[in-house]
Amino acid sequence: KDSLGALGSRIGLRIGNAVNDDKLTTDATYTAILAGQFTTVTAENAMKWEVVEPSRGVNDFAAADRLVTFAAAHRQLVRGHTLLWHNQIPGWLTSGVTDGSISRSELRTILKRHVTTEVTHFKGKIWQWDVANEFFTDSTPSTINPNDFWVANLGEGIIADVFRWARAADPRALLFYNDYNIAGEDGTNAKADAVHAWAKGLKRQGVPIDGIGDQGHLDTQYPFPTTMTANLRRYEAAGFKVAITEADVRTFVDNATDQNPTDALALMAQPYEFSQMLKACLAVRACISFTVWGVNDRDSWIPGFFTDPLQGYATLHDVHLQPKPAFTTLQQDLTLA
Ligand code: G3I
Repeated sequence: KDSLGALGSRIGLRIGNAVNDDKLTTDATYTAILAGQFTTVTAENAMKWEVVEPSRGVNDFAAADRLVTFAAAHRQLVRGHTLLWHNQIPGWLTSGVTDGSISRSELRTILKRHVTTEVTHFKGKIWQWDVANEFFTDSTPSTINPNDFWVANLGEGIIADVFRWARAADPRALLFYNDYNIAGEDGTNAKADAVHAWAKGLKRQGVPIDGIGDQGHLDTQYPFPTTMTANLRRYEAAGFKVAITEADVRTFVDNATDQNPTDALALMAQPYEFSQMLKACLAVRACISFTVWGVNDRDSWIPGFFTDPLQGYATLHDVHLQPKPAFTTLQQDLTLA
C-alpha cells in the first residue's frame, strides 16, 4: 500500500505530522514512520520562543535546524510553529514583564526582534508559518481574549503587526492564523464566526494573512462537527488557504502506558472522526495540508494533559508504533480521493 504522503501528493494534499525532536535522534522506528508516511512536518515544540531564546539575546535553533535538515533530506515541507502565543514564552520574558523591568515599549521591541530573527533564520525553508496562535475565547460570543498576555500588554493590534513583521522577514512563506474549535468543533460555531469575521477584516485592511489553520483536536465523547466543511469553505470564500494543523482524536483510556479505550465504541469512533476530518479537508480546494499532532500514542501530548479522567489513543499509531485502524482508514480515504 502507498504511504499517506504519496497518496496525498497524487491529489495535491500534503499529509503531515508533529515532530518531537528527541525521538528524531533516538528512535529509528519513529523516524522511519515520519520519513516514510509524511510529506510535511511541524516542530511540536522546537520552534517555540522558550526553546529558541532560552536566555535573553541567546538564540538556540539547533533542534529546529535538525528538523529542517531532516525535512529537506526527505523532501518534506516545513510548517513553522509558532511565533506569537501566550504559552511557552521564555521565563526571562514573563518575569521581566511581571517585575516591571521590561516596559511595554521594550516588550514590543523584544517581540519584533524575536519574530524577525526567527523568520529570517529559517527564510526560504518554511512553507507555512503559524504566525499567531489561540487568541480567541471559547465563550459565546467569542472575542479576542482581552486577558491574553500579548493583548493585555500590547493591545489587539499586535497580532496584525506580527503578521507584517513576518512577511517582511520572509515574503514567500504562507502566513497562518492557527486556533482550535474554529470550524464548529465546539458545537456552537461562535468561535468560527468570530475568527472568520476578524480574519476577513484584517485581510481587507491589507494585513498579510494567507491562511487559517484549524487545529482539529477532537474527542470521541462529542459528535463529529458536521459544520466543519462549511466552515472551511467559508474561510476559502474569504480568500484564505486552509490547513488542518494538529489533528488528533482522543478518547477515554484505561492507563497511560497501554492506552486501551475503555469504551468499545471508541474503537470505531476514533477512526471515524479522523476520516470525517480528512474528508472535510478533501472537500475544500483551499485545504493544502492535513497534519496529525503526534507520530504515535506513546509520544502524544494527550495522556500528559487530559489526566482526570485519563484520555489517549489519539493518533494513527499505537504505543508500540504499530498502525491503528485510523491509519488504515485514512489510507483508504486517500486512495479513493
Ligand atoms: O522541555 C521540558 C523538559 O526539560 C522537562 O523535563 C519536562 C518535564 O515536564 O518538560 C518539558 O517541557 C514540556 C514540553 O512540552 C516539551 O516536551 C512541557 O512540560 C509540556 O507542557 C510541553 O507540552 C507541549 C504543549 O504544547 C505545551 O504548550 C506539547 O508537547 C505540545 O504538543 C503542545 O502543542 C500545542 C500546540 O503548540 C498549540 N496547540 C495546542 C497543542 C496542544 O497543547
